[in-house]
Amino acid sequence: MHFKILIVDDEKNIREGLAESLEMDGYPVETAADGDAAFKRFQKGDIDLVITDLKMPGLSGEELLKRVVSETPGIPVIVLTGHGTVANAVAAMRNGAIDFLTKPVDLDHLSSIVKRELQRRERDLKHRQIEEELEHRQHFKTMVGTSAPMRQVFDTVSRAAPSKASILITGESGVGKELVADAIHELSPRKGKPLIKVHCAALAASILESELFGHEKGSFTGATSRTRGRFELAHEGTLFLDEIGEIDQNVQIKLLRVLQEKKFERVGGEETIEVDVRIVAATNKDLKTEIDKGAFREDLYYRLNVVNIQVPPLRERKDDLPLLITAFLKEFAAENGKTLEGIDDKARSALYAYDWPGNVRELRNCMESAVVMTRGPVITAEDLPPTVRTQNDSGWIRIPLGTTLEESEKIIIRDTLSAHHGNKSKTAEVLAMGRKTLHRKLAEWGGEEEAMHEAGSESTQENW
Ligand SMILES: Nc1ncnc2c1ncn2[C@@H]1O[C@H](COP(=O)(O)OP(=O)(O)OP(=O)(O)O)[C@@H](O)[C@H]1O
Ligand SMILES: [Mg+2]
Repeated sequence: MHFKILIVDDEKNIREGLAESLEMDGYPVETAADGDAAFKRFQKGDIDLVITDLKMPGLSGEELLKRVVSETPGIPVIVLTGHGTVANAVAAMRNGAIDFLTKPVDLDHLSSIVKRELQRRERDLKHRQIEEELEHRQHFKTMVGTSAPMRQVFDTVSRAAPSKASILITGESGVGKELVADAIHELSPRKGKPLIKVHCAALAASILESELFGHEKGSFTGATSRTRGRFELAHEGTLFLDEIGEIDQNVQIKLLRVLQEKKFERVGGEETIEVDVRIVAATNKDLKTEIDKGAFREDLYYRLNVVNIQVPPLRERKDDLPLLITAFLKEFAAENGKTLEGIDDKARSALYAYDWPGNVRELRNCMESAVVMTRGPVITAEDLPPTVRTQNDSGWIRIPLGTTLEESEKIIIRDTLSAHHGNKSKTAEVLAMGRKTLHRKLAEWGGEEEAMHEAGSESTQENW
């Protein structure tokens, strides 16, 4: 985050001296020569820390402090005071100032206080944002995520859900396809009507057919009574066909007919049944390849894939990790009756460095086992499963021979960024490069996505 500092002092030299020093530390700084001007500027917004003199003509520093703090509770305000007036500073602390500096100001001291307070501010804001996110997810029930790719998923879900259009959800195993299906139903006018789920891969072809369409008594051995199928049960609601890539040709034909005509017959039956069902299907297979192989009907594919929702793998949206980790920690701490404070830096780094081939499901399992295993109130790297713990905590960056200079630079920056949980300031510091240069490079490589981050809320782009 770009934290902006406001410096208020009626003495030009002091004002400008402090501003220059903080600008050299890399902060954007604005100045004001009196309390009134300062408060006006403050009300315009985007000030994250205020440094103010106490004695000024017009609106005093004390009064400015009170107004600023009541406007933005929790904002760090540092007061400046001359020698011999420390009592005033103490009074200011009572009114909400976070610290004070005596004049002449020791610039190193100033620098360290500002750094400490802005880090604290960032943590507070991050924490509050996570809490808010967790509260705001009722629409998507248990589904959390603020990364650009997930926002796109939520956006498509919100727009497509109210319609009757068939939706095909694609994505690797464990990315959350079923949760997306739940959200679609919840956000549709069919909410309150049945959401029926069929796990197509789990059933043999003949059984799947009768599961879906029902059967008449005596239609096959064991069919001792007439049974209604899932299509009938889902009437006026939603039918979720999971692992749709697994169904055989026969069922595909029957499915195609229901999609086209909204009609079918039960297995062994004559009666034509009409239903009003919204179809949501999911697969982790590439259906195009299945079509090329002749294993999946192209016409059915187009009927199912009116709207396509691709849920990206977790490794491509690591911005979601902090939120997911917090959500799972809460869930499993409650379930296990434990009080947990959080997770330490080393464990966080390991979670961040790991590739998550099993996606969110793997992360969820990992957090459950960590909560169960941990002895203390804080999850440490030792509490994580060995596969997660040992990946990439070598402290080394490996670059294959033959890599171009340009490509090497990318690897170095990305790995360093990853090792610092996406914290760009820290990454720039470690690599001894300018923040602006880093931002520019990331924006260039990230293309549109990074640009979106830059333009959109600050919340997702920084560290956690
Ligand atoms: N964004 C998310 N927020 C919270 N939990 C999630 C999220 N995505 C997935 N999960 C959890 O991860 C697990 C796997 O999700 P889900 O079953 O929806 O995945 P899937 O894509 O259907 O996987 P598969 O292809 O293996 O069926 C579930 O426990 C789910 O609750
Ligand atoms: Mg699933």
